[in-house]
Amino acid sequence: MAIKVSSTFLLRKLHQLTGIVPLGLFFFVHMFTNSKAMNGEVPFEKAVQEIHDIPFLLFLEIFGIFLPLTFHSVYGVIISTEARANVFTYNYGRNWFYFFQRATGIFLFFFIFFHILNFRFGLIPGLNMTPIAGNAGLSYNIVSAEFSIPWVMVFYIVGIGATAWHLAYGFWLFAVDWGIIIGENAQKYALYACTVLAFGLFAVGVNAAISFVRPCGLFPAALCEKSSAVKKADGPAKF
Ligand code: HEM
Repeated sequence: MAIKVSSTFLLRKLHQLTGIVPLGLFFFVHMFTNSKAMNGEVPFEKAVQEIHDIPFLLFLEIFGIFLPLTFHSVYGVIISTEARANVFTYNYGRNWFYFFQRATGIFLFFFIFFHILNFRFGLIPGLNMTPIAGNAGLSYNIVSAEFSIPWVMVFYIVGIGATAWHLAYGFWLFAVDWGIIIGENAQKYALYACTVLAFGLFAVGVNAAISFVRPCGLFPAALCEKSSAVKKADGPAKF
């Protein structure tokens, strides 16, 4: 009997694990860094520079982000193409959740690829052509110029929503599959908690995105402190 790739126990577990650590963890940190744009250009660029100053950054990016992301995405797409979506046959809530998990996963495959080419490498013709890697001092203006284009902003808002849902429901699937949440009631309340988390992450991410085109994002300007630090002249780009 042929063994389907999705039933390979070890790969499945590794797929779930890479979704939580390091990718889930990265998303929390990434939204925190992006939220620094609420206080303007200087705090955001300082945060980006601090990331660029991390020793062995390339090593961390390759083993902590790019490899887990590639494995998680490619294996996720394989699982999705093998899965039989039966939302139209059985219209139960959990079938819809199951369907959305796969649909957001496939969308994110393209969104994250676009996003990394766009900001990290500056390789999308017609959009930004300056890599933020090595150019922290230009990062706020690069993101701000991109987000002033309406379709780019809408695309990012959809991307943030897809990531927030995919991650939050991913936590629930992980906890159920690894036997952390067992009882039916416990699973029900955990699902409510994950839904709240998804909306919370979405709100934080959208607010960060808006901060690049409006000071303090969705909040009144009085709630943000405009940095008094003076921006130093940009040095030569390093890679
Ligand atoms: C508010 C919306 C977002 C903004 C402003 C933003 C900004 C950025 C910037 C400026 C970079 C380049 C960092 C650098 O080269 O130093 C980056 C990289 C990245 N972003 Fe985002 N991002 C957003 C949403 C997302 C979402 C929804 C995801 C999905 C998980 C994501 C995943 C990534 C990944 C994987 C990288 C590559 C990390 C690396 O090269 O080390 N971002 N982002």
